This record gives sequence, structure tokens and C-alpha cells, in this order.
Amino acid sequence: MKFINLNINNYIAIIEINNESQLNALNQKLLLELNDVILKLENDKLVKIIIITGCGKKAFVAGADIKEMQKMSKEEAYNYSKLGSELFLKIENFKKPIIAAINGYALGGGCELALSCHIRYASSNAVFGQPEVKLGLVTGFGGSQRITKNISKGHSMEMLLSGRMYSADESLKIGLINKIFNIDVLLNEVKLIAKSIINNSPKAIKKTIELINKSYDLKIEDGLTVESIEFGKLFNEDETNEGLLAFIEKRKAKF
Ligand code: CAA
Repeated sequence: MKFINLNINNYIAIIEINNESQLNALNQKLLLELNDVILKLENDKLVKIIIITGCGKKAFVAGADIKEMQKMSKEEAYNYSKLGSELFLKIENFKKPIIAAINGYALGGGCELALSCHIRYASSNAVFGQPEVKLGLVTGFGGSQRITKNISKGHSMEMLLSGRMYSADESLKIGLINKIFNIDVLLNEVKLIAKSIINNSPKAIKKTIELINKSYDLKIEDGLTVESIEFGKLFNEDETNEGLLAFIEKRKAKF
């Protein structure tokens, strides 16, 4: 793979977007490679969680590849948008947690990639934005659809209509990211968080991702019914038996 570095260690897969000279911009080949890696990791028993980050210390991803886009026809642009948005939907619905470790610019498609991840942490030099309107474009990889699920409608409108850049501090204040770390410790801190998550029941983790994602589409009554069904289904299953017994035996559960 030319544009993706993959490292798997202690059940944590680190996907590094590797197009540093172009600030990790998402060209079509890169998106296809990322798609292949995501598919491969889905059933890899040695992977319980994924961290996505960018190569270098300047950019997570500075967006869709503007140089590639500049030559596209309407149909090619539609297909490019579909390629990115279908991949980001796979990330959002992935059955193992995917964390974005945002190490610099997260603009346009980069901010959209981060938004499709389940949790976002950023370095203090990170910069967020959806500058598509400055290019005469709308977001193409799900930004307009996902942003209001993460921050308020007013902040969403401001971010997408102004196209301006937001510092890590401002992004934390509006709820776009969970926490800020120094760039030099970002990946290690995110790995520690990942480690604490993968000590928990994989089945419960998978179901929790599904339930939270579904909560955006369901009426509260229907969502509560689905939750009760999933809650019931977990009983008398190995991981739940172990989790409940471990509490009673005053020990840590082993999943
Ligand atoms: N696409 C293609 N190339 C990009 C790029 C992008 N999104 N972002 C940066 N690059 C390239 C630059 O062209 C430059 O390449 P060359 O050296 O070959 O000229 C290299 O990366 C370094 O970039 P700069 O010299 O511009 O670096 P800087 O520090 O001066 O500025 C920046 C950094 C503010 C992030 C600036 O690069 C920038 O504004 N980039 C574009 C950001 C953007 O508009 N992203 C949204 C794209 S649209 C989109 O994503 C649509 C969608 O939703 C699908």
C-alpha cells in the first residue's frame, strides 16, 4: 500500500494516512486503500480497536484532493463523493471502536473522516474546518449529514457556512472533540484510552456502537424497545456470564 501504513500491536491497529507531502489529502487511490484496510480489519481477531491518524506533525487530513477534483466531471465528482461517503459510513458502523487521533489540520474531508470515527482526540495544534464553500462546493463525504449529530445546529451552520478554521480549543468548546493532548504524546495517550476500552466485553462494545448509532434514526419508544431486546439477548452468553460473575467474585472480568 502506498498511502496507508498499518501497524497492529496488542490488539490495537493504527492506521496512518500517508500522503504527507500533500498534507494527507484524500485522493481516490488513498480512499480505495483505506477501504481495503478497513474491510480487512473487520474480521481480524488480533484487532479489537482501531486508531486513525495522519503522517507527520502538521496534518491529520487536509481534505479531499483539490488537485484531483479540479479535473473532475460531474459524474466523476459524484462517484468520488460516493466512494468517500460509503467508506466513512463503514467506519461509522464498524463493529469495533474507531478513534481519530487528530494530529494537525482536519479540513473538509479530513474533518468528515474524523466525524465518522466513534471518538475524537486532537493535538493542541489541530485545526478543524469545513472550507468547501470557499471552493464553491458543499461537503462531499458526509459532513452536512454528520455535523449536527455532533455539535449544535447553530455551530454546524456557522462552521459549514463560514468555512473558517477552528482551533483545537474552540473545537473542544463546541463538542467536536473529546480532549486535547500535546502533539508529542497524542498517540500514546490515545493508545492508553484504547487499552482501557478493549478490556471491556467485545460483544457489549459492538452492541453499544450499534445502539448509539441507531438512536439517531429511531423514535425514543422504538429505540428503547431495541435496547431492551439487545439487553435481554446478552444474558446467559459467555461474556455476560463472565462479567457478572467477576463482579460477584470481586475480580476483573476476562473477555
Ligand atoms: N488537496 C490537495 N493538495 C493539498 C490539499 C488538498 N486538500 N491541502 C494541501 N495540499 C497540498 C498543497 O497544494 C501543497 O502541495 P504542493 O507543495 O505540491 O504545492 C502541500 O499540500 C502543502 O500545502 P500548503 O503549501 O498549502 O501548506 P500551508 O501550510 O501553506 O497551508 C493549509 C496549509 C491551510 C491546510 C492549506 O494547504 C489548505 O488550505 N489546504 C486545503 C484545505 C481545504 O480546502 N480542504 C477542503 C478540500 S474540499 C473537500 O474536502 C471536499 C469534501 O468534503 C469531499
